[in-house]
Amino acid sequence: MAIIDKIKAKAAADVKTIVLPEGEEDRNVQAAAKVVEAGLAKIIMLGDPEKVKAVAAKYGANIDGIEIINPATSDKAAGYAATLFELRKAKGMTEEQAAKLVADPMYYGIMMVKAGDADGLVSGAIHSTGDMLRPALQIIKAKPGMKTVSSCFLIESPLPQFGENGIMIFSDCAVMPNPTAEELANIALGAADSARSLAGIEPRVAMLSFSTKGSAKHDNVTKVQEATRIAHEMAPDLMLDGELQLDAALVPSVGALKAPGSAVAGKANVLVFPDLQSGNIGYKLAQRLGQAEAYGPILQGIAKPCNDLSRGCSVDDIVATVAITAAQAQG
Ligand code: ACO
Repeated sequence: MAIIDKIKAKAAADVKTIVLPEGEEDRNVQAAAKVVEAGLAKIIMLGDPEKVKAVAAKYGANIDGIEIINPATSDKAAGYAATLFELRKAKGMTEEQAAKLVADPMYYGIMMVKAGDADGLVSGAIHSTGDMLRPALQIIKAKPGMKTVSSCFLIESPLPQFGENGIMIFSDCAVMPNPTAEELANIALGAADSARSLAGIEPRVAMLSFSTKGSAKHDNVTKVQEATRIAHEMAPDLMLDGELQLDAALVPSVGALKAPGSAVAGKANVLVFPDLQSGNIGYKLAQRLGQAEAYGPILQGIAKPCNDLSRGCSVDDIVATVAITAAQAQG
């Protein structure tokens, strides 16, 4: 069974409520109908109910049973605005600004998740990554024990010799442009969590670099070595090793040669990239040249699940992201 079908089955086994702030948008409406029909999640759409219904009619999408909330007229808006003001007043937010922000479906949706009125959020078909991430980071914040919210891609390679039968986690590919060593250690722990909770695999984490075990000397290498040390301190039982080059991480013969005795080298199933440029390029190489399926970006280390969509996403991409978010909401 494909990994995404396993995740859908997991989501359907314990149905969670996911809010879609882009409720008036065509693909979101079609995806909502599909999600509900497949029993993957309960959906709340944000927007003008008449507009949402008009889009549904245009596509023959059955949205019966889907709750539609208009943030501009909702009787919960005042309460969310008061909470938002309390959360952000130290950062200079005024009551007026808070009231104006919660009328925006993106902020209203985040406040619903914060308040526990929804278990998770999916957005980004018409918002940029930054516009989706910023309210999530400011309001939902990192989960207890984590300092850094980051992201991963769930990779399903057609080559079963890599990772766990082709299944791998790549991180961070979307959030932290230039992590410090401490942030990189947090990313590694978040990625290990994602491996367990989403892929159902026991993580073997490779901290990637252009050097293996001191073969090169550079500040960039030192950062990965330091991140490896911090991650070991934070999670002594986690199978994690670094710094490793990509081939030493994935290919058993190279791993044995360059990092003999390592529990990770040659059999890594979680790849932690040293920065966002390498992570973002890395997952796209796997997807485009390696013909791997790549699901994400999936936020990790965040207190409650909120996930971003690509603006080029398809209806099925939204369905998959809702299923992933619902599975994350199960904890
Ligand atoms: N973890 C936890 N909290 C964070 C993080 C993080 N990684 N990053 C920012 N924050 C918090 C800050 O502490 C701050 O909180 P505060 O206001 O309570 O003090 C708040 O979020 C805003 O932080 P800023 O630094 O002001 O946020 P900024 O808007 O500058 O940047 C962002 C955050 C949007 C995530 C930025 O790092 C970014 O643009 N990242 C790259 C996103 C991107 O373009 N990705 C590539 C495309 S995606 C793809 O191709 C798959």
